Amino acid sequence: MRTERLQADPNGVARAGELLRDGGLVAFATETVYGLGADATDGVAVARIFEAKGRPRFNPLIVHVADLAGAERLAHLGEAGLRLAAAFWPGPLTLVAPLREGAAVTALTTAGLDTVGVRVPAHPLAQAVLRAVDRPVAAPSANPSGRISPTTAAHVLAGLDGRIDAVLDGGACSVGVESTIVGLGPEGSCLLRPGGVPRETVEACLGQPLAPPQFQGAGVTAPGQLASHYAPTVPVRLHAEAPFDGEAWLGFGEDPAAALGLPAERRRNLSPAGDLREAAAALFADLRALDAIGTPIAVAAVPEHGLGLAINDRVRRAASPRSEG
Ligand code: TXA
Ligand code: MG
Repeated sequence: MRTERLQADPNGVARAGELLRDGGLVAFATETVYGLGADATDGVAVARIFEAKGRPRFNPLIVHVADLAGAERLAHLGEAGLRLAAAFWPGPLTLVAPLREGAAVTALTTAGLDTVGVRVPAHPLAQAVLRAVDRPVAAPSANPSGRISPTTAAHVLAGLDGRIDAVLDGGACSVGVESTIVGLGPEGSCLLRPGGVPRETVEACLGQPLAPPQFQGAGVTAPGQLASHYAPTVPVRLHAEAPFDGEAWLGFGEDPAAALGLPAERRRNLSPAGDLREAAAALFADLRALDAIGTPIAVAAVPEHGLGLAINDRVRRAASPRSEG
């Protein structure tokens, strides 16, 4: 793939918006670091982010919106969230808050969680892109997995040239470190990641200290804590060739479950065509649907390459929920 170099002018912004609306990947400047954007409502587009970064694990992504109204369409910010939004948006602060029911964000963006990280960036170019797209944009830092975050378009190209549709050059990022991430829980707020807004500044705004990050282990729901990963509540069996009696079935590619007479509501197929992007896009919604049945889930083998690595990481951890903490 040829990566288009887009300039920070109305044509560049319009092209970036068009590519993103078509399911493309566009890196663009924010005030913190360059983000690798995709339409957060499109599961296959979001799957391409993980593919381009070579990320072996699905973590929840930050959703970028142009303004507070856009954030409120996605999340219940609550009193503390609204106070922080008024003080620091647009700017280098991300709020993790309960996902609104029916919010237009695909499950892969939130890694299947009931919460969503939202941010309103201040960079005028990021603002222009978000308004051109007119959809929420998922954007992790625009670097290959394991490398440092890019703060210029040249850094982005050094890592991702040929792997993404375009980079929109907005010059050097002024903040240079990622956004501060605050988790908003029913019993208070916690610091999930230090970043561009100092902790003390956030605490002064809230009038109370931020708790250290607290994650709930799978199956343990303590109020006030934020889940780090979605995990099914039922047992999960991996590398299955077919479902046993009493199991629900999560297939991939050619599928024996229908021929075995398993009723349609007890089986899903991540991708009948064996397409890993499609499978990644479907993973969390399918796991949730089968989890809701309440029986154990048998999962077909998924190839260990490309996005298959992250898919297998997720189902492996679903199969051993106690170890993930
Ligand atoms: O400055 C930034 O925040 C940059 C620029 C591009 O905006 N973006 C960025 O995004 O750093 P990302 O996707 O790499 O940040 C992801 C981190 C996750 O690793 C996780 O720690 C946290 O954000 N996060 C996002 N959604 C979450 C959720 N629902 N629950 C818990 N943590 C979440
Ligand atoms: Mg990063």
